[in-house]
Amino acid sequence: MTGPQPRILISGQHGQVSRELQLSLRSLGTIHALDRNALDLTQPEQIRSYIRAIAPDLIINAAAHTAVDQAESEPDLAFAINAQAPGIFAEEAARLNIPLIHYSTDYVFDGNKATPYTEDDAPNPLGVYGRSKLAGEQAITAVGGQHLILRTSWIYSRHGRNFLLTMQRLLQEKPQLRVVADQIGAPTWAGTVAHSTRLLIERWQNGLGGEWGIYHLTAQGETSWFGFAQAIADQLKVLGLPCAELLPIPSRDYPTPAQRPLNSRLDCSRLQRQWQVTQPHWQQALIDCLK
Ligand SMILES: NC(=O)c1ccc[n+]([C@@H]2O[C@H](COP(=O)([O-])OP(=O)(O)OC[C@H]3O[C@@H](n4cnc5c(N)ncnc54)[C@H](OP(=O)(O)O)[C@@H]3O)[C@@H](O)[C@H]2O)c1
Repeated sequence: MTGPQPRILISGQHGQVSRELQLSLRSLGTIHALDRNALDLTQPEQIRSYIRAIAPDLIINAAAHTAVDQAESEPDLAFAINAQAPGIFAEEAARLNIPLIHYSTDYVFDGNKATPYTEDDAPNPLGVYGRSKLAGEQAITAVGGQHLILRTSWIYSRHGRNFLLTMQRLLQEKPQLRVVADQIGAPTWAGTVAHSTRLLIERWQNGLGGEWGIYHLTAQGETSWFGFAQAIADQLKVLGLPCAELLPIPSRDYPTPAQRPLNSRLDCSRLQRQWQVTQPHWQQALIDCLK
């Protein structure tokens, strides 16, 4: 980075990962976190002119069209935000000769593999969201500049729309709750993603970084949505709060517009090997998030 106070541009100001990034990175430089009014990812010229005006030392694209089911009925919007905009970020980052950090998803895979996915496995998204995110990865890779594409999974935090907050509410409202038990993955706290991102930036700043490219970055361990719900219920019980009875169901009993991969597990060992960055176990991260 140039100068004592690097400028870090973060898109999607109010998103789960973005909010945690703003906390984790504030001592690393001047943060320019922009919401969709300031930086609308459907407006390519706005993206270009904003980046040229700020001239950041690092761009982090934490904004995305993340409504997986809604994306099925608005593919053009999903592709504009998740595919075209990342390509523009990559072009502008390359023009400034600065790195771009971008987030992608386990939903680029079809979930048919029996073991965790590595970065060498062939993507095969099941829906529009996954296809648009894969196209975003390809657009960034095609530009060929300095970039980290960090595929994560099952993001939750204490803000926004996510499984943790939905479960906390429903578990206290309902006597019984049916939760899908045949999709396996790693619930990942947005704070974990932000903390790991900070470590990656520090390693790059200190000349200790690994190769640029695509990496998997999730919490360690694995569970189902049902197992995640059980862990959330356990925390409610510790607090003496009312808690629904949980019933495991297969995905076929909970039909949604977008099909989800049954196996969402991502092997994160490449990130550890290349950048010496590891994540906590998902159960520990859940406790940290709820503190
Ligand atoms: N959520 C998950 O479970 C999950 C799983 C795997 C990977 N990821 C990836 O992780 C990254 C961060 O996800 P997240 O969970 O933090 O997402 P999030 O909480 O849904 O936040 C997404 C942000 O993007 C913003 N946004 C949407 N459309 C926009 C537009 N046209 N212009 C500018 N901003 C726009 C939203 O703005 P508003 O606040 O105005 O709506 C929101 O702040 C994304 O790349 C996502 O694909 C997420």
